[in-house]
Amino acid sequence: MARFRDPQDPLFRTLNSSIAFDYRLAPYDLEQSLAHVRMLARSGIISDADLTTLERGLDAVREEIEGDRFAVNPEDEDVHMAIERRLTEIVGPVGGKLHTARSRNDQVATDVAMLVRAHSLGAKELVLELMGTLAGLAERHLDWRMPGYTHLQRAQPVYLSHHLLAYFWKFRRDLQRFNFCMTATDDLPLGAGALAGVNFDTSRMYVAQELGFGGISENSLDAVSNRDFVLDYLAAAATCATHLSQLGAEIVLWSSQEFGFCEVADAFSSGSSLMPQKKNPDAAELLRAKAPRVVGRLAGLYGVLHGLPLTYNKDLQEDKEPLFDTVDTLELCLRVASEMVGGLTFDRERMAAAAADEFIAATDVADLLVRRGVPFREAHGMVAGVVRAAIDRGKPLSDLTPDELRELAPPLDGEFYDLLEQGAWLESKISEGGTSLARVREQLAHARHVLDEAQA
Ligand code: ARG
Repeated sequence: MARFRDPQDPLFRTLNSSIAFDYRLAPYDLEQSLAHVRMLARSGIISDADLTTLERGLDAVREEIEGDRFAVNPEDEDVHMAIERRLTEIVGPVGGKLHTARSRNDQVATDVAMLVRAHSLGAKELVLELMGTLAGLAERHLDWRMPGYTHLQRAQPVYLSHHLLAYFWKFRRDLQRFNFCMTATDDLPLGAGALAGVNFDTSRMYVAQELGFGGISENSLDAVSNRDFVLDYLAAAATCATHLSQLGAEIVLWSSQEFGFCEVADAFSSGSSLMPQKKNPDAAELLRAKAPRVVGRLAGLYGVLHGLPLTYNKDLQEDKEPLFDTVDTLELCLRVASEMVGGLTFDRERMAAAAADEFIAATDVADLLVRRGVPFREAHGMVAGVVRAAIDRGKPLSDLTPDELRELAPPLDGEFYDLLEQGAWLESKISEGGTSLARVREQLAHARHVLDEAQA
């Protein structure tokens, strides 16, 4: 009995169609289909002659796509239907055998998992490159002094190398998060069919191996509804983009005339159309600004997934745009960050002058008192008094006379003046992970080791 269908409403068709964006799944879809038809032939589900025809047809489709000659039809709802339609045009009705023992539900989950795996690997490589840039920059600025900040107030001096390496370790954790994303995509969804499995004794493990999956999903209902790996990738990307944002924001501050710590290379900045003296750190500003967009994609996908009943729901089609946008945003930002950070020039004198502010040695003066047996809390109070007195009397700490010192903090002696000698209070930070040169050298060696291990 023929079944007549009314033509689809054009607005509905526009809403329903995903081809405009899921077209970029095409390479994964083709790779998947090749593995699938080979499995069908090995399992005796299609003949070897059919396999040869399908392989040839899929190859022809791939060539059209790669050569930008693939014509999408208005009726192609998504990339999966477009490829199958074109395959059938090329090889005839045998093309219809491609979809044996498969549903678009397990097919799309597989494509997306493949894309997430490829781009987790891509993110790892880009993050590693940035880590290498940061380590190199730290090496070249090992003993450059600068103020360290809390509350954006000068707190204690540190070496620039130490500050840069702080970002190294943040990106190291991002690397580990992208590693986890690889694990999260390790179970092949294909073979789950629409939701319940398929009516053929397929060999899923064969397909898994062909496509580089470590195993197969245990439960067909879970397989077609699972988008955890997309959430995992978006979460890793959100944290990584947040780190890029923090780094970008510091570069914006540092390159301001008020700070004057660094200059961004011309290639990553713009001039003002009106004010000829200006050089704007646009790239750093955009790194700063992109993070919430990625975080928003993650929040958006949580919204799509929340409350979804098993198994496939069309809602799941909404996983793609946030994912693709995040991939593009993150990879672009990582590339720019590596180049821009690598091209920064720092102003040694300017940073050293900011770090030479004696008041930022207050903690060290307190510790000197502690070593003289004064309880820390008391020492803290005494030093606050010393600092206040110096400010009131309009002089730096080192200009306080020994008599004044005796009056303000009796246990202080000549060592107070030694301590205020430039740099002394940097080199006193000898604890593990601290900013003394010996510790930073140690840290840099660990960083190098991490890079070597990751590149091996
Ligand atoms: N374009 C769809 C998506 O991205 C493919 C799966 C369609 N499945 C279905 N039962 N309509 O989710």
